[in-house]
Amino acid sequence: MAQEPLPDSILPDSILIVDFGSQVTQLIARRVREAGVYSEIAPFTLAEEAFKRMKPKGIILSGSPAGVPDDGSPRAPQAFFDAGVPILGICYGQQVMTHQLGGEVKPGHETGEGGEFGRAFLTVIRDCALFDGLWQEGERHQVWMSHGDKVTRFADGFEIVATSDGAPFAVIADEKRKFYGTQFHPEVVHTPDGGRLIANFVRHVCGLAGDWTMAAYREAKVREIRQQVGDRRVICGLSGGVDSSVAAILIHEAIGDQLTCVFVDHGLLRLNERAQVETMFRDHYNIPLVTVDAEDMFMEGLAGVTDPEAKRKFIGKTFIDVFDAEAKNVGGADFLAQGTLYPDVIESVSFTGGPSVTIKSHHNVGGLPERMNMELVEPLRELFKDEVRELGRELGLPDMFVGRHPFPGPGLAIRIPGEVTKERCDILRKADAIYLDEIRKAGLYDAIWQAFAVLLPVKTVGVMGDARTYDSVCGLRAVTSTDGMTADVYPFDAAFLTGCATRIVNEVQGINRVVYDYTSKPPGTIEWE
Ligand code: XMP
Repeated sequence: MAQEPLPDSILPDSILIVDFGSQVTQLIARRVREAGVYSEIAPFTLAEEAFKRMKPKGIILSGSPAGVPDDGSPRAPQAFFDAGVPILGICYGQQVMTHQLGGEVKPGHETGEGGEFGRAFLTVIRDCALFDGLWQEGERHQVWMSHGDKVTRFADGFEIVATSDGAPFAVIADEKRKFYGTQFHPEVVHTPDGGRLIANFVRHVCGLAGDWTMAAYREAKVREIRQQVGDRRVICGLSGGVDSSVAAILIHEAIGDQLTCVFVDHGLLRLNERAQVETMFRDHYNIPLVTVDAEDMFMEGLAGVTDPEAKRKFIGKTFIDVFDAEAKNVGGADFLAQGTLYPDVIESVSFTGGPSVTIKSHHNVGGLPERMNMELVEPLRELFKDEVRELGRELGLPDMFVGRHPFPGPGLAIRIPGEVTKERCDILRKADAIYLDEIRKAGLYDAIWQAFAVLLPVKTVGVMGDARTYDSVCGLRAVTSTDGMTADVYPFDAAFLTGCATRIVNEVQGINRVVYDYTSKPPGTIEWE
């Protein structure tokens, strides 16, 4: 295969976001991408390196839990201020830029005014490029503030362009150098015009066209995968979920039959899931797919196991054993493909020092690359979940597949507290399918992050017809979430839940009572185990 040159970055036009440890840094990246511009987040400790690699057309400095006056609080690389590249500092970013350019930042307790937290209103004093087509002189606008310290004297070259009661320097600008600072957070939804302010920065100030699309990403990634893999072989573990499916289809587009997909049927899948995956990959996309029927092996190993962590460990290890054996059967591979997403690879920084890596360890095939001595192909590393869905649509994946709720690697095993048996999996599969069917019929599926049934190890007495029953309890769970890290309970109306309960008890033998889980995360987790 011809070797095409690898692009320096995914696309040359990008924005670098410097992370000082704010909880909402990822939202800045979202807003920039929504403006049609590619962006990457780098912890402040690695920002200089990222700058050299990406050659960004603009820099955004994030907020931080630290305070500029605190000892050891982080700084931006000083060279950024001499690079001739536009800079937007947000909250701490505004303060650190001010401080590094010779202005003054004081702690709230010294100014005697305390901080400003939550909704606030600012007044626009004069026009600036950030406000183009959006805010006019004299207008008042709602923003979201969260700061204790504040700028008390700005650096040379800046002027105030908007002010609020608690932050006289709500927005400052040095239009000559194209440096801007906002004391409020434009990246959060509580600043209603925030997304458009950020769009103004990346388009009007940095001059980017806003033409970053999934079609462009697909094309660049296909080239990159070809470059990385050459004529060698890739193996991909399919889970039936969106991430691994999209990764597999993209890789197949790049290297065709050099890719083999392996789907392990551990008997812990949802109703008809295996058939759906096989039809989709083999028939629709013509991708080489090996299905491993490992149900017996998993069920035997799970016999008598009731501890949630023991279940997870057994399933994870057995999955790797089965996958490893199958990889050898198909003649080995040099690369392992994974559907790792951007939130899993972003290093979150601790403001006192170096980066503290927080990577979710939820991957089904964790530990495999070292054991099998393989390199990784992770074509979704730069994407957020909804961007993966968009890429899936771009690649022709049907909506039904693209919009699927997440499903955990250990499958139904962690939705059956107590011992897992094939019989209990079958009962749960039926109840789960009815619940999801009702949700789809009510048009609620897409409004919910994840909905599923659990089968409890509790039996209760019921009465059906004239007969006494003594059967299991089924729990129903539905949550809304943006990333699975926190979640709210989905507020079904009572009639809907009653309808689900009636159908489940009537149609599923083995269940005679249904309950709804009203616990948010935290304190609950989404899964029951
Ligand atoms: P929890 O239960 O931790 O779940 O609130 C958060 C999200 O992660 C999913 N999850 C997993 N996904 N392997 C996975 O691939 C796992 O072991 C696993 N455990 C939980 C869960 O379904 C939810 O979306």
